[in-house]
Amino acid sequence: MADKHIVRFEPVGIEIEVDEEQTVLRAAAEQGIMLMHGCKEGQCAACKSFLLEGEDVEHDSYSTFALPDSEKDEGFTLLCRAHVYEDVTIELLNYDEEMIRSGLPIQSAVATVVSNENVTHDIRHLVLSVPAEPEFRFFPGQYVDIGIPGTGATRSFSMANTSARESGQLEFIIKCYPGGMFSGFLDTTLAVGDELPISGPFGVFTLRDSPAELVFVGGGAGMAPILSVLRSLAERDPSRKATFYYGARGKRDLCFEDELRSLGELLPNFTYVPALSEPVEGEDWDGEVGFVTDVVRKHESDLRRTDAYVCGPPPMVEAAITVLSDLGAPAARIFYDKFTTTGEPLTSDIQTTPVTGRASA
Ligand SMILES: Cc1cc2nc3c(=O)[nH]c(=O)nc-3n(C[C@H](O)[C@H](O)[C@H](O)COP(=O)(O)OP(=O)(O)OC[C@H]3O[C@@H](n4cnc5c(N)ncnc54)[C@H](O)[C@@H]3O)c2cc1C
Ligand code: FES
Repeated sequence: MADKHIVRFEPVGIEIEVDEEQTVLRAAAEQGIMLMHGCKEGQCAACKSFLLEGEDVEHDSYSTFALPDSEKDEGFTLLCRAHVYEDVTIELLNYDEEMIRSGLPIQSAVATVVSNENVTHDIRHLVLSVPAEPEFRFFPGQYVDIGIPGTGATRSFSMANTSARESGQLEFIIKCYPGGMFSGFLDTTLAVGDELPISGPFGVFTLRDSPAELVFVGGGAGMAPILSVLRSLAERDPSRKATFYYGARGKRDLCFEDELRSLGELLPNFTYVPALSEPVEGEDWDGEVGFVTDVVRKHESDLRRTDAYVCGPPPMVEAAITVLSDLGAPAARIFYDKFTTTGEPLTSDIQTTPVTGRASA
């Protein structure tokens, strides 16, 4: 075990102890402190913070798009890559006061594949069982990192269920990309009974305590954490008004339709609005057609008192944040998870916007 040092976070006044071998972000997560982050690989800048006091900080490899040398010289740091070798004080530039102290300490476990079924032509429903003791706890909307056997690599996947307490299971909705390191393996190799290392929970895409009406906007596998939050709403706060706009290309890309269409029986004020951007001509479809963001604009007129949750591919999330803001949703009440992919080429575009968090004003 290496030396430990105190890291103090301002302006929240939280102190944690950080082992020299750990990153600051990892140490915080292990101590239940939920700091804003996304890729955890020094690529997205979501965890960028400022070193107020102390200077003996080293970084694991990172992208200079996320932290240009000029910013590093000024004192900026990436908490997902930073190791400290003395006591330091760090100013958090992007944090959620409501969430920061509410984290669950992260756990590692070996999970076993219970089922791995197609729910569309390229989306899988993966169910893993986790050991009963200690209970693998998470908040609806959070994600875990799943290890890819034999590679040392991990990928992040959001749980679609609400708890492992009774079922002992974690459910995932995963889009398969040909050649994708994890999703290709999931598609072609992973079988019932196989074991996968997992660690988590991570993330702040969780339902905030508020009486506000809810709008969810999702696309593709972004369904996973939204389904988790909707299922938890049915368990905890069923009378809350909620609308889920879900974007898919064609009818064959829709999944969990029966459950979503019958959720209204549990949530009397819930509306599900699927939208197809590329319906096949002649297909039996009388629902919305167009980009999901245009459908939100068509249905909503005033979101000033609404909490919005957005999840899916980064371009969809960015477009949705713009539409929701135009419709009056307060920036601090737009919560989002961008499903960034590790295999994507680095561009300046993906470095400048956080991949998870709240829209900035
Ligand atoms: C917080 C968070 C939560 C996430 N939750 C989920 C989830 O619940 N479900 C889910 O499916 N994913 C989720 N993701 C994305 C997931 O972690 C992986 O990045 C994704 O599954 C691709 O991993 P891979 O190993 O299959 O592909 P990689 O090996 O990482 O990618 C290999 C290649 O596949 C191609 N590829 C990969 N992604 C794309 C893409 N989006 N569009 C086009 N080509 C692509 C590219 O050519 C890429 O270079 C989440 C990501 C984050 C950050
Ligand atoms: S979480 Fe640190 S750069 Fe992405």
